[in-house]
Amino acid sequence: MSVDEALPEVQELTEKINYHNNLYHNLSRPEISDYEFDQLLNRLIDLEKKYPELKLPDSPTQRVGGDITKNFETVTHKYPMLSLSNTYSKEELRDFHERVIKGLGHSDFIYFCELKFDGVALSVTFKDGLIEKAVTRGDGTRGDNIITNAKTIRSLPLRLAPGDYPGEFEVRGEVFMPRKVFNRINEERIDIGEEPLANPRNSTSGTLKMQDSAVVASRNLDCYLYALLGDQVNYESHSESIQALERWNFNISQTYKSCHSIEEVFGYIDEWELKRLELPLETDGIVIKVNHIKYQQILGYTAKSSRWAIAFKYKSESASTRLNGITYQVGRTGAITPVAELQPVLLAGTTVKRASLHNANEIERLGLRIGDTVFVEKGGEIIPKITGIDEIKRSSKSEPVKYIKECPQCGTILVRVEGEAVHYCPNFDRCPPQVMGRIEHFIQRKAMNIETLGRETIKGLLDTGLIKDPGDLYKLDFETLNGLEFKVFSNKKGDISVRSLREKSAKNIIEAIESSKNVPFENVLFALGIRYVGQTVAEKLAGHFRNIDGLTSASYEELIDAPEIGEKIAVSIEEYFRKPENIDLIQRLKDAGTQMKLSSEHALEGDTLEGMSFVISGVFENYGRDELKSIIKKNGGKIVSSVSGSLDYLVAGNNMGPSKLEKANKFGVKIISELDLESMLNK
Ligand code: IVH
Repeated sequence: MSVDEALPEVQELTEKINYHNNLYHNLSRPEISDYEFDQLLNRLIDLEKKYPELKLPDSPTQRVGGDITKNFETVTHKYPMLSLSNTYSKEELRDFHERVIKGLGHSDFIYFCELKFDGVALSVTFKDGLIEKAVTRGDGTRGDNIITNAKTIRSLPLRLAPGDYPGEFEVRGEVFMPRKVFNRINEERIDIGEEPLANPRNSTSGTLKMQDSAVVASRNLDCYLYALLGDQVNYESHSESIQALERWNFNISQTYKSCHSIEEVFGYIDEWELKRLELPLETDGIVIKVNHIKYQQILGYTAKSSRWAIAFKYKSESASTRLNGITYQVGRTGAITPVAELQPVLLAGTTVKRASLHNANEIERLGLRIGDTVFVEKGGEIIPKITGIDEIKRSSKSEPVKYIKECPQCGTILVRVEGEAVHYCPNFDRCPPQVMGRIEHFIQRKAMNIETLGRETIKGLLDTGLIKDPGDLYKLDFETLNGLEFKVFSNKKGDISVRSLREKSAKNIIEAIESSKNVPFENVLFALGIRYVGQTVAEKLAGHFRNIDGLTSASYEELIDAPEIGEKIAVSIEEYFRKPENIDLIQRLKDAGTQMKLSSEHALEGDTLEGMSFVISGVFENYGRDELKSIIKKNGGKIVSSVSGSLDYLVAGNNMGPSKLEKANKFGVKIISELDLESMLNK
């Protein structure tokens, strides 16, 4: 294919992808499956790789990131980004209302009410319908242009469809991390021994400043727009601007309302006080804006904020209750997390019994004593947090909390590395929750994907001594598992009952262990559970060192040189490989046949399959269908959808349709397995 031939396809793909992207992210009514969408995107990525000159600045492939920005350019805002004055009470809001009436000389105006989204403000400029820059608020006058990162926000258009927008304009809005994403990231961070992020807003601002836009893309940020500015923007009211933004396919939260009196505004405040907690993102109040631009101009600005708008902030949901005690959890990495055990109390619709205390410093900072009356608040986290103590209610006899010195699970003396807030239990090999946690980490879907092995079974296998670490899983066989009896604690009282593993479960477990030998190297690396090595870091390490030996023998300097690897991670990796028991584990995993080097998809790129056509059908053992298709394409082969006389190969997996097989036989098409394909590539 020549560049000229590729051009129309690139254009058509771009248009299609933008169309479906908008349907999915802004209108919530997709017309095609995620799989079909990914196929379009992958095709475009492939074409752009082959013909870089065809890669447009608004290409939807930028959504997946990959560009690195070392230093963000500082840009002066054309219109300064002011802040809003705040109020926490309806009385103060009434005062604001009186000031507006006084300023205008009448009360014949309407308010446009919106929710106050808790994220990071962003100002995005469009020129001739094309995104040009995306600048953070900074100090209000100058901010950073984070355009490569902003492009990963899927609901933000990169190019507008033809419409009635001016040649140049700015849209402003709030970039946010949906609660769900925030919780997912924190679960991952805790899993790899990293401190959890404080709240979705901090996570958003941290993410937007990252250098690697591929990492930004993986964080699934989103954005709601709430303002339109520009010399050629002539709408008479804010509501018309919002309508225009909706017309041009910007993402507008459908929570706004026009209010014709201050009473109606109060009604809006009450309406959203609890309903906002069900929204996918954090909000901390509402914003009340005088709707007509003419009136906004009359009211004008103070040095810092506008006189025509105000934020009403909800007091964050807080409750007071008694601190009954502190318990200590031991994580997979041995990290100790103190948890406050509270007298159950109702908070924002749910009963709260426990609160996370993070570490010893937090207990000290709060000055906690058992029996204290504490205030609890709900943030973005799943578990609420203690924000303070009601000192007046403190009993004179209470004493400060003494942090534990020994592991609550195995009794080993805890250690605290200098400069770190967290205590650790160093009994890596024998401390039960650590051993259990490592196996649970190892088998999870994102790692070795042996989730048919449930918690109870793992516990049973550990208790019976059949396994001691993840490497031992590969010694298990069907005969051992089938009918295996182990004890389980069946209730809180600790009653013990005996269970035996059914034939079907035993079979499923053995099958999953077998298939895990094919999960890619980066998953295996992640599965090892090296502290601070999450999925993304594992991918980077796999890509850079290509196989386990390269990584085990890497010096600190070599580790630091790898992309995205900082001091903390490098030290942790070094420490991991210095331990003989870990080297031994890796050897056993290697012997078992797990992937300890990059797969052929990464390793092989070339023209071995040039001129050959392939149909993929069925389910494969070692590869996903997309993966297989991409391998074929990367090696010059062509994927076609139906079997015909001109087809070269049918790659057949399990459960493939009988009609394809029949046709292939009829036309004398060669039928090959995934292994045959591999050997073709390896030749
Ligand atoms: S309008 C003159 N509308 O709140 C009005 N701001 O202190 C300028 N914010 O960081 C802002 N939701 O990013 C407006 N619906 C909304 C908003 C909103 C959140 C943020 C804004 C800024 C802060 C204002």
